[in-house]
Amino acid sequence: MRSIIPQQWQRIDDDSDSEGISKKKAPLFSTMKSTVVSFLCGALFASVTLASSAWSKSPQNIAKLYEAARPNVSPIAPPVERISEPVSRVTGKKFKYYNRNTKQFWVNGTAGAIPDVHFDISESYAGLLPISKNKTESRKLYFWFFPSTGGKETQDDLVIWLNGGPGCSSLEGLLQENGPFTWQYGTYLPVKNEYTWLNLTNMLWVDQPVGTGFSQGVPNIRNQEDLAEQFLGFMKNFVDKFGLHGKRIWLTGESYAGKYIPYIADAMYAKKDTRSFNLKGTMLYDPSIDDDLFLEEIPAVPFLLRNSNIFSLPDSTVAKLKSEADRCGYTDLYNLGLTFPSPGGLNTTYVDTSCSLWNDIFNEVLKVNPCFNIYHIMTTCPNLWDVLGFPGSFGYLPKGAKIYFDRPEVQKAINAPRMKWEECSSRDVFPHDDTSPSPVPAGVLSRVVEKSERTVIAHGLMDYVLIADGTLLSLNNMVWNGARGFSERPARKFVVPYAQQGEMGTWIEERGLTYIEVKLSGHMVPQYQPGAAYRHLEYLLGRVKDLSSDQL
Ligand SMILES: *[C@@H]1O[C@H](CO)[C@@H](O)[C@H](O)[C@H]1NC(C)=O
Ligand SMILES: *[C@@H]1O[C@H](CO)[C@@H](O)[C@H](O)[C@H]1NC(C)=O
Ligand SMILES: *[C@@H]1O[C@H](CO)[C@@H](O)[C@H](O)[C@H]1NC(C)=O
Ligand SMILES: *[C@@H]1O[C@H](CO)[C@@H](O)[C@H](O)[C@H]1NC(C)=O
Repeated sequence: MRSIIPQQWQRIDDDSDSEGISKKKAPLFSTMKSTVVSFLCGALFASVTLASSAWSKSPQNIAKLYEAARPNVSPIAPPVERISEPVSRVTGKKFKYYNRNTKQFWVNGTAGAIPDVHFDISESYAGLLPISKNKTESRKLYFWFFPSTGGKETQDDLVIWLNGGPGCSSLEGLLQENGPFTWQYGTYLPVKNEYTWLNLTNMLWVDQPVGTGFSQGVPNIRNQEDLAEQFLGFMKNFVDKFGLHGKRIWLTGESYAGKYIPYIADAMYAKKDTRSFNLKGTMLYDPSIDDDLFLEEIPAVPFLLRNSNIFSLPDSTVAKLKSEADRCGYTDLYNLGLTFPSPGGLNTTYVDTSCSLWNDIFNEVLKVNPCFNIYHIMTTCPNLWDVLGFPGSFGYLPKGAKIYFDRPEVQKAINAPRMKWEECSSRDVFPHDDTSPSPVPAGVLSRVVEKSERTVIAHGLMDYVLIADGTLLSLNNMVWNGARGFSERPARKFVVPYAQQGEMGTWIEERGLTYIEVKLSGHMVPQYQPGAAYRHLEYLLGRVKDLSSDQL
């Protein structure tokens, strides 16, 4: 595979060289220097320590509980272990999922019980569960489960959220994308999330694969099939523990999870065990569904041209990049790949594989905008403090600041092991590399689309780490349900009725696959456009049939 470390960082220099950049793996945050760790798609594309002056200087209720005795057990009833049950401060009722099996996972959501969360959050359970039924299993995944806070119609769905990386914790999603409370870049404290997905469904965030976030054990997976097997082993234990058999499961996530999820879904369908794995569909944001050639290289220069005011590169540089794209064979493939209806399979034989325009553009834009954020191109300096330490292209934590999930009192409150927590693991979660082909060329995504009630792929138009045109081009080259690609360019208005946002992009649905482009959104769509993502989820779950509708 092509190296995707930006070229200016490809030298391996001694750490002591103030201009030097070391390619060796380094901890996310070192005190001496800022560490540049970028997760592309979130695929890890650079893990380099940058000791440059620029980066080192400018770093950048519910449940008031009381012990309530169970009602007297009638003598003829089978013996039941007496347990004391917490009771909701708000409803005065006992918690829905609290029982003998689950009480060890219960999280106190009373205001103040979770550090810095000064308001009540709803019933939830967190902790570790093994990836198999083996009594001596040493590998465990960390989860945080929140029952739905919505009405009856929301109780039978279980949505799983996965972040990417590989190796990025799904607690990023919980805290900054779709969870009940949110702590955004540059802000002082967490606040309630108006657009939490809990309103619509039961939600499960999982740190996976082994080696990610709070998960435990030694990573040993070789490919996506291994990953799926371990995830299914965990899910079986989770569903059994919480009695969630038969729930309608929807797998959602972003970035590199766009590679995990089709493989996990494929494995779930193959089990034919709807008691444990009643999968109904998937939703992927800015996903790693194909090779970098399609998702980054071919669309890079057209993306630059369309956003030229934001990139603000000198005209002469733009002209040079444009003629390079022609020479590399990218321009022809771009035009062919985005022709509707799809003219047929794309042949990449004549592409110059030595071209790396994505990196070339990145290196140029960093000169103009040292705070350029591959995950949201409209970001400029200053670098904002991020309570998870990763607010842009580079890790950044000012002196004295702490990473939220790395705090022992936070770990205690959420039944997490006491350990060093990193948003994106500096350990290899694929110790022998991820040898699986991407889901589109592997045929896995089309197989999953064909078996699902719905598949939604959405992409932020301000994302540079993966580019919307690349995703559309890849899908337009994919065969599913008897035909290749889309019959026309996505053009229906995508409407967000919340906060009267209105038209926020375009969409298309054909043969069970929906593709949506989201205006003004970076890579993490539920973070940058939470109202849009909330709407996507309503659509995925079948509560809204038409994404052009403005009905609440
Ligand atoms: C839950 O947290 C609140 C606030 O910190 C505390 O007053 C209460 O005792 C805790 N309840 C239990 C059962 O630990
Ligand atoms: C359980 O794990 C142990 C230790 O890893 C292993 O030796 C054993 O074969 C496993 N048993 C099963 C049934 O997989
Ligand atoms: C989610 O539910 C909360 C509590 O009922 C409500 O305040 C909020 O507006 C809901 N969000 C949306 C987008 O409907
Ligand atoms: C691509 O083009 C080359 C050269 O014309 C040809 O040999 C090859 O078979 C083509 N590949 C596909 C998949 O069509």
